[in-house]
Amino acid sequence: MSSAVFVCPEESAFYTQCLQLFFSIYCDAISEVHEFGSGDGVPMVNAIRQSSFKGMIHGYEVNDASWSQANLLIQRCQIEKRYCVHLASFFDICVQPSNCALVTNPPYLPALTDTVLYMKELYGGEDGAMISRKLLSLGYRTVLLMVSSFSNPVELLRFAAEQGYAVSDFLVTPLPFGLYSSQPEVKTQIFELYRKHRAFFSEHYYLLAGVIFRKTERVDMELTVNLMNIMQSLRRSS
Ligand SMILES: C[S@@+](CC[C@H](N)C(=O)[O-])C[C@H]1O[C@@H](n2cnc3c(N)ncnc32)[C@H](O)[C@@H]1O
Repeated sequence: MSSAVFVCPEESAFYTQCLQLFFSIYCDAISEVHEFGSGDGVPMVNAIRQSSFKGMIHGYEVNDASWSQANLLIQRCQIEKRYCVHLASFFDICVQPSNCALVTNPPYLPALTDTVLYMKELYGGEDGAMISRKLLSLGYRTVLLMVSSFSNPVELLRFAAEQGYAVSDFLVTPLPFGLYSSQPEVKTQIFELYRKHRAFFSEHYYLLAGVIFRKTERVDMELTVNLMNIMQSLRRSS
């Protein structure tokens, strides 16, 4: 199963909605976008079709089945001049973050090790936020990051503020636990995080936020604190 393509239509559709919000705000201000983990390319292609963003989007994907599906889709839609997915680890490329924005629905599954996962490319470290922290350390001025309520969201938002990021906008949705997050090894770790107040969810749902971060001289914490409160709001009844 490790060579399988990431499939979660509800999550990918919400990522598309967040990309649309992002493009509606930054359409004219940004000329190049980098995408970490493009998957099969569907979320970005759907967002591009409904946006007037004229710049170039470079996606990076390590899973070769996903990469080839994404580029087939791009060719079919004839948008090669707007979106290209490269087969490479994002962390191996030489990024020039200063003039570009970063967008991503990153791997955020918490587990003790990646070897236990159905799809090891979805591993987010022991607390699920390891890749997100790494991405927020790269120096991009503008970032759209999907943040899960079961992946240590409060400490992640605090980390973002320490890196000089203010939350400038967000969308939040409840998502049911799916194929990947219901895997027993993942669920056990999510419960462990819940016990330590580092994961928040109800019986069947967790929250996913699409968060737009901007680097600023003085970080205004108002929306960061509001979002921290929202991300902690789901509870189990027992
Ligand atoms: C949660 S999925 C999101 C896929 C797609 N963007 C979506 O929302 O449907 C995360 C993706 O990141 C990819 N990925 C993991 N590590 C990566 C890395 N170092 N560089 C590039 N892509 C990576 C995975 O293969 C996976 O396709």
